Amino acid sequence: MSGDVILEAVNVVKHFGANGGWLSNKRPVQAVDGVSVQIRQGETFAIVGESGCGKSTLARVLMRLLEPTEGSVKFDGTDVSHAQGNDLKSLRGDMQFVFQDPFSSLNPRMSVGRLVGEPLEVHAPDLTPQERRTRVAALLRKVGLRAEHADHYPHEFSGGQRQRIGIARALAAEPRLIIGDEPVSALDVSVQAQVINLLADLRRDLGLTLVVIAHDLGVIRHMSDRVAVMYLGRFVEVGDAEDVLSRPRHPYTQALMAAIPMMDGTDREKAPELLGELPNPSDPPSGCRFHTRCPYARPLCQTESPALTGEAHQTACHFWEEIAGAPVPAPTRKSETAEARFALYRAATTGGTVIHNNNSPTAED
Ligand SMILES: Nc1ncnc2c1ncn2[C@@H]1O[C@H](COP(=O)(O)OP(=O)(O)OP(=O)(O)O)[C@@H](O)[C@H]1O
Ligand SMILES: [Mg+2]
Repeated sequence: MSGDVILEAVNVVKHFGANGGWLSNKRPVQAVDGVSVQIRQGETFAIVGESGCGKSTLARVLMRLLEPTEGSVKFDGTDVSHAQGNDLKSLRGDMQFVFQDPFSSLNPRMSVGRLVGEPLEVHAPDLTPQERRTRVAALLRKVGLRAEHADHYPHEFSGGQRQRIGIARALAAEPRLIIGDEPVSALDVSVQAQVINLLADLRRDLGLTLVVIAHDLGVIRHMSDRVAVMYLGRFVEVGDAEDVLSRPRHPYTQALMAAIPMMDGTDREKAPELLGELPNPSDPPSGCRFHTRCPYARPLCQTESPALTGEAHQTACHFWEEIAGAPVPAPTRKSETAEARFALYRAATTGGTVIHNNNSPTAED
């Protein structure tokens, strides 16, 4: 199913507000901070993580809708970040985006026929108007709509139907890869599965490569070949969906898994609770960015950023192997901050005293 690498990112960094100017005293937002990934021809690759972790920014850099601050992106061997002229135009056709919000991503003044036909004017300029209409009708049928829908306007359709129009428009350019940025999160739960199934069918029938972004694992668990879990601008775990979802190694993935309903009898008791909120990406924690919320964090995690290591199943955690067999540490009270835990460790290793203050232990320096 999966074959050659079609899209490759090497150490992609995207910081917003990094170029100084009169706002330069503000710290840049480290939206994406060193992501490398290889996406294979024909696979469905999912990127999952909490709101604000950098998923959309990464997707936009991959598609050259944003310039990376550092790093490079290659599509089928062509350098995306430096493509110009015809190369860029052909890349624009090869990679298409399906947006989260089917309400704002379609121009309300354009008929469905024009919306779906517009990319054909650019990518298949030699078609006669009649040929274009025929092509639009075929595209509409392909996404489960009818040819006569071409004469209607977006407001006449339901959310799920509008997302189908968005998908037909993306298909018009005959792309080889589609990135769906939360393609179903604006839809009713009842139609989410239909749109997910449509994307999965299209991938299979047209031999597309699919990159799907979601903020929960529930949406993607049945459709993905591989999954990347993203936290504060970095990938913390990447691997075959089956491996990552049934044997998550990173404490963050384990916590995300704990947040979705278990239908397969997985033991929920073993999953750690996610402490606190996502830190500010302008001022991310030192070392492992997850250490402030990790129930297993140790002093090393505070100072040293773990690399993503492993072959097929990669994890960025200093202690994942130990964690795998260990019980979840008891102290998951929200009041016990990571700072307090480090204070305990520090006290234990330096022989300092530990003061218990409002039930929250702190170390005396
Ligand atoms: N154009 C921009 N200028 C400044 N900051 C930005 C810009 N776009 C995104 N950001 C910031 O970068 C970080 C990552 O945003 P991004 O939209 O990539 O996250 P996301 O994972 O897609 O979130 P969501 O699940 O909510 O869509 C956020 O802190 C966001 O506020
Ligand atoms: Mg987003």
